[in-house]
Amino acid sequence: MTRYREFHRRSIEAPEDFWRDEARRIHWETPFETVLDRSNPPFARWFVGGRTNLCHNAVDRHLAERAQQNALVYVSTETGIERRYTYAELYAEINRMAAVMRSLGVKRGDRVLIYLPMIPEAVFAMLACARLGAIHSVVFGGFAAPSLAARIDDATPALIVTADAGARGGKVIDYTPLVDEALARAKHKPPHVLRIDRQLAPERLNASYLVDYEPLREQFFDAHVPCEWLESNEPSYVLYTSGTTGRPKGVVRDVGGYAVALAASMEYIYEGRAGDTMFTASDIGWVVGHSYIIYAPLIAGLTTVMYEGTPIRPDGGIWWRLVEQHRINLMFTAPTGLRVLKKQDPALLKKYNLSSLRTLFLAGEPLDEPTASWISDALGKPIVDNYWQTETGWPMLAIQRGVEALPAKLGSPGVPVYGYDLTLRNEQTGEVCAAGEKGVITLGYPLPPGCMSTVWGDDRRFVSTYWSSVPDQQLYSTFDWGIQDDDGYVTILGRTDDVINVAGHRLGTREIEEAISSHKAVAEVAVVGVADPLKGQVALAFVVLRDADRYAADKARLKLEAELVSTVDRQLGAIARPARVHFVAMLPKTRSGKLLRRAIAALAEGRDPGDLPTIEDASALQQVRDALAAAAGGKT
Ligand code: PRX
Repeated sequence: MTRYREFHRRSIEAPEDFWRDEARRIHWETPFETVLDRSNPPFARWFVGGRTNLCHNAVDRHLAERAQQNALVYVSTETGIERRYTYAELYAEINRMAAVMRSLGVKRGDRVLIYLPMIPEAVFAMLACARLGAIHSVVFGGFAAPSLAARIDDATPALIVTADAGARGGKVIDYTPLVDEALARAKHKPPHVLRIDRQLAPERLNASYLVDYEPLREQFFDAHVPCEWLESNEPSYVLYTSGTTGRPKGVVRDVGGYAVALAASMEYIYEGRAGDTMFTASDIGWVVGHSYIIYAPLIAGLTTVMYEGTPIRPDGGIWWRLVEQHRINLMFTAPTGLRVLKKQDPALLKKYNLSSLRTLFLAGEPLDEPTASWISDALGKPIVDNYWQTETGWPMLAIQRGVEALPAKLGSPGVPVYGYDLTLRNEQTGEVCAAGEKGVITLGYPLPPGCMSTVWGDDRRFVSTYWSSVPDQQLYSTFDWGIQDDDGYVTILGRTDDVINVAGHRLGTREIEEAISSHKAVAEVAVVGVADPLKGQVALAFVVLRDADRYAADKARLKLEAELVSTVDRQLGAIARPARVHFVAMLPKTRSGKLLRRAIAALAEGRDPGDLPTIEDASALQQVRDALAAAAGGKT
C-alpha cells in the first residue's frame, strides 16, 4: 500500500504542489497565477487567473495528432442508427452547433438548457456551449414537464435545445408536448427553443416558438467559432440533483479544475490512454454521463461510445456485442444494469470476443456481493467499484489502479481517492470514527478540483446544506453512512438523508411526497426507499386519505393507487414512480411532527425499527405493519 498511501498523503498535505503538477495535463491559454485560493472557506477556487476552455481541451487540442481517430461512436438500438465521428468531424459538428447557438443570441455566461435523448447532437450541444462559454444545464429526458419547468425557472436559460422525441424499449416518447407544458408552467420564457428533428415523433407537432436545427446547420455548415477563453473558475455547467428538500439543487461546476480532475482520473483511476475506446452506459442527463461519456474520455483523447437503448434489446448480449464490435477497452455502468443482465442467458456473455476489455467500472449505487462475484467470474477481468456524487463530479473512493493496484474487497468501493481528505465522523460529536465504527462520510476543506463550486444562484444554500452538519468544523457532508476497516477500505451503508437510489437514479423522497400530496384525496404522505433485489431500492408511499370512507372498497383503492402513481409520472417522470402505495390512518411521527421515515423503511424491509422514544403515537407503527401485511396478502 506504500505507493498509494504516499500518493494520497502528498495530495492532502501539499495540495498546491500536487495539483500544479496535474494541471499540466490540459492546455492553458493563459497560465494560472495561484493554484488554490482558500481566502473564503468553504469556497475554494482552483487555478485562479488561468484561462482555458473545455471544448478546446476535449476536441481542438487533439486535431494535430488524432484528427482521423474516432472521437464519438454512436449506436442506437432504438432507431438502428450507428454513426462514427472522427475528432475532425466532431470539431466540425460542434462548430456548426456553436454558430447556430450564437445566431440565436447565446453568449458567454448564458445558460442553455439541454433536454435531449441520447443522440450525438446532445454531445455537440454540450461542447458547443463549452466553446461559447455558455453554461449548459442538461435535464434528463425522463423528467416530466413540471420538473423541467422548475429547472427552466431556476436556470433561466437563453435557449432550450430539445428533440422531437426520445425512445426507450421501442416506445417513442414525444418531447414537444412536454416542452409545451413546461413552457406554459414556467415563469421564465426563453427567447428560443431549438429542436433536433429525428423524425421519430408520430405526429409532426409544430409550435411557433420552435426553431428547427437542420436548416440552420446547413446555413452554418462551414462555420468556425473561436473558443472563449474562460477564467478557470467561471461556471461550465449546472446539473440539478435531489436532496432533502423538494427543490432540486443546481450543482455548479467550474472549468479548469474540472478539466484537470477528469484528466488525472483517466490515468490514476480508469487507466485510459489516448487511442483507447471507452463505453459508459449511462445517460448524458446524469453526472456519470457528463464526466465519463463526454468530458473525461475526450479530454484524454479516447474514443467514446454513446449508446441509446436498453441492456436487453434486441437481447441481453447487446453490451457485449458493442464491446466486440468496437474493441472497447474500458466499460463503465451502474450495478443495476448488471443485475438485469444476470437474469439473462449466460451464453450471451460467452458469445462475444471480449478480449479488448481491460476493466469494468461500476458506480452510482451499492454493488452487492452476489452481483460483484457473478460479473467478476463471468468476465474474468478486474471490476472496479467507485463511489462519488453529482456534487463531486469524479470518484471519492476507488481502487486507483493507475496509482497502485490494491486488491479489491467485496462490498467496498475501495480507499479514499487522492485529493479527498475523506474521514468518517460521529454524527453527533463530529469526532473521527475508529475502524469498524459507523459514521458519516465527510470531506475536509478544500474540496479538490472538479467538485461543485456552489449551488446555482444560492451560495448560502451551498454552505448551509453541505458544510453545516458537523458543528464548529469545516467539513463537507456526503450524507452517506459508511464504515472503514483497518486498511482504509470504506463500505457504504446508505444515505443519512431522505435521498433514495432507484436503479442508480438519485431521487428525493420529498419530491415524490410533494407530487403525491398534490392529489386532492391525499391528506398526508410519507415516501421511503426499501431494498429491492433488482433496482437496489424502490420507493413505497404511505398515504393518509382525507376521506378514507370514500375509498373503503378494494376497487376504489386500487383505482386511487393507479391515479397517484400517474400523478407522480406526470409531475416528476416514471423514474420516480412508487412501486406501491399503501393506505394508513396515521403516519408515525415524533412529538414535534417529524415523519419517522427510517422507522417506516425498517418495517417495510422486515427489520426492527428500534427504540423510538420520541414517537407521538406508537399505534401508527402498527398501521404501517398492517398495511404491509395486507399488501403481502394481496389486498391493498
Ligand atoms: O449514496 C451514494 C450513492 O449514490 C449517491 C450519489 O448519487 P449521484 O449524485 O446520482 O451520483 C452518482 C455518481 C456515481 C451517493 O451519495 N453511490 C454512488 N456511488 C456508490 C454509491 N453507493 C454505494 N457504492 C457506490 N459505488
